[in-house]
Amino acid sequence: MVNTRFGQWLGRLLLVCTLTIPLLLQDSFCLDGSPPAYHFSHGFGSGVNNWLVQIEGGGWCNNVTTCLARKNTRLGSSKAMVKELSFSGILSNKQKFNPDFYDWNRIKVRYCDGSSFTGDVEAVNPATNLHFRGARVFLAIIEDLQAKGMKNAQNAILSGCSAGGLASILHCDKFKSLMPSTTKVKCLSDAGYFINTNDVSGAKHIETFYTEVVATHGSAKNLPSSCTSRLSPGLCFFPQYVVSQIQTPIFFVNAAYDSWQIKNILAPGVADPHGTWHYCKLDITKCSSIQLKTMQDFRLEFLKAISVVGNSLSKGLFIDSCYAHCQTEMQETWLRANSPRLGATTIAKAVGDWFYDRSAFQKIDCPYPCNPTCHNRVFDPNDHLE
Ligand SMILES: *[C@@H]1O[C@H](CO)[C@@H](O)[C@H](O)[C@H]1NC(C)=O
Repeated sequence: MVNTRFGQWLGRLLLVCTLTIPLLLQDSFCLDGSPPAYHFSHGFGSGVNNWLVQIEGGGWCNNVTTCLARKNTRLGSSKAMVKELSFSGILSNKQKFNPDFYDWNRIKVRYCDGSSFTGDVEAVNPATNLHFRGARVFLAIIEDLQAKGMKNAQNAILSGCSAGGLASILHCDKFKSLMPSTTKVKCLSDAGYFINTNDVSGAKHIETFYTEVVATHGSAKNLPSSCTSRLSPGLCFFPQYVVSQIQTPIFFVNAAYDSWQIKNILAPGVADPHGTWHYCKLDITKCSSIQLKTMQDFRLEFLKAISVVGNSLSKGLFIDSCYAHCQTEMQETWLRANSPRLGATTIAKAVGDWFYDRSAFQKIDCPYPCNPTCHNRVFDPNDHLE
């Protein structure tokens, strides 16, 4: 607990939500065998029957070595998670900061399995004690929330950012099928549209990586069968091969120059042994003209990959030309006087209008550096690349 005057001031300003362990665990475990967890802020007023389930991100682990490395961290164990988390952006309880969802029940599901909640392996190797049970975690949390009132939901959104944004794509129709038929259900993916493209050395780095994730976690049976019946399971981890089959309305918020994708799909360390991309990845204004050309080509690949979403008005697109990753959970990118806009529209307004059927939204920005409203990320050189 915070006892300083500063802490009390901060506490009034921020909504702080406590870690909760679901009651119905159903054989679901984080990587280390600990129970899964979420943070919950109750709905109020006219929002009591509306539910926003937001899934946390945090990359993936693709083999026993990398899964062991995350097992005892907050991304692999509820024992290592902070007990309190502040909610902002789409999770804010202030009307001014989050006009369409502030009074909903808002849940942040903590990410703890390393497979975007798709894994399901019965056996646990006693030598590693690694639990590959992410799909069961997802089900257990949904059932727990239903017992807490989500079964009476009028409106519901499955959302998430990064690996959580991918989870919201892969589980979108499943989530809809678990809800009463009378509930209005939509999905929102923030920075979850990871594309299958070669890295700067020409290798299929991300395709290999996802194939390993899916094999390690036994994810194939929990990926959309409309994809796994046609393609190898590793490919069905990519949104571009599954989204055309998604029946539930879904909105994609994504930067065309997503900073995680530039750092880890386009120019991962293994593809850049001399570190030529190092400063460019930390700060887009430091990229050479050749690197910028490569990034413009990446944007074109991204636009091609997302074109399969199609132009049904049930699908939403907010594709800005920012160097960013995850724009719905941070107040400064979700809704502020100077937050990113496409046309004159903020992300909060585009998503709210789409959810409530006030107006559809499908906009793709002009190429970098055309959009002055971007909040381009600048990374600390001492930080590990996320
Ligand atoms: C596990 O994956 C990492 C990251 O891709 C790789 O560097 C490492 O060699 C792999 N280890 C094994 C044992 O396959």
